[in-house]
Amino acid sequence: MNYYVLSLFPEIIENSLNASITGRAIEKEIITLTSVDIRDFSDNKHMKVDDYPYGGGAGLVIKPTCVYDAYLHTISLIKNKKKPRVVYMTPQGSVFNQKKAVDFAKEEDLIILCGHYEGIDERVLETIVTDYVSIGDYVLTGGEIASVIVMDAVSRLVPGVLGNSESAFTDTFSDGLLEYPQYTRPEEFLGMKVPEVLRSGHHGNVEKWRHEQKLIRTRKNRPDLYEKYIMLHPEEELKD
Ligand code: ADE
Repeated sequence: MNYYVLSLFPEIIENSLNASITGRAIEKEIITLTSVDIRDFSDNKHMKVDDYPYGGGAGLVIKPTCVYDAYLHTISLIKNKKKPRVVYMTPQGSVFNQKKAVDFAKEEDLIILCGHYEGIDERVLETIVTDYVSIGDYVLTGGEIASVIVMDAVSRLVPGVLGNSESAFTDTFSDGLLEYPQYTRPEEFLGMKVPEVLRSGHHGNVEKWRHEQKLIRTRKNRPDLYEKYIMLHPEEELKD
């Protein structure tokens, strides 16, 4: 997986992705990160990349020329003959979820475009963007952190990024339910004991308890997901 991220603040992206599990994957070259600074493609001597919006209004709009030149430069770096998808991070996009992460993880190259200020000139977006993606119904100062979230979720699905002990497919959302609670030593903490069943060594009972906990937690925290799950598995509906 090769990520090419076009933004005005590459340091936000590099600092985040070069740490922890994604950092290890970059070191091992399982994933690559190329950040492209849109400011390097400014066409004026003050390195300005934005300008006043036509029609008036608050804020500044990123010029189409710098973004397009940054895009053409990025395309020239990519060896693959297939044109890569271009993901624009914006609260106007469709909301990112695990299904989209799985879909993006199938790509070899992904170009991610991050806006700032009041957005990017619509004409360049119409020309290059294939996917408009939001990470949720709230507005960030820019798309950089949103892009890191997308790349993090996608990267852990790329084979080899997670170690053997970390499975990408046994956790939350892989089966439409939230995860069960986890415990480790000590056996007693602030007067609270680890549930008896987990200490019993009875594998079947542990599995049964964990599945029930998933249902209980999903019904409590995400009734929308619980309803969906029960539609598909009516026999598993919780009694109380
Ligand atoms: N840029 C600003 N807010 C955003 C959001 N919620 N999702 C994606 N990109 C954004």
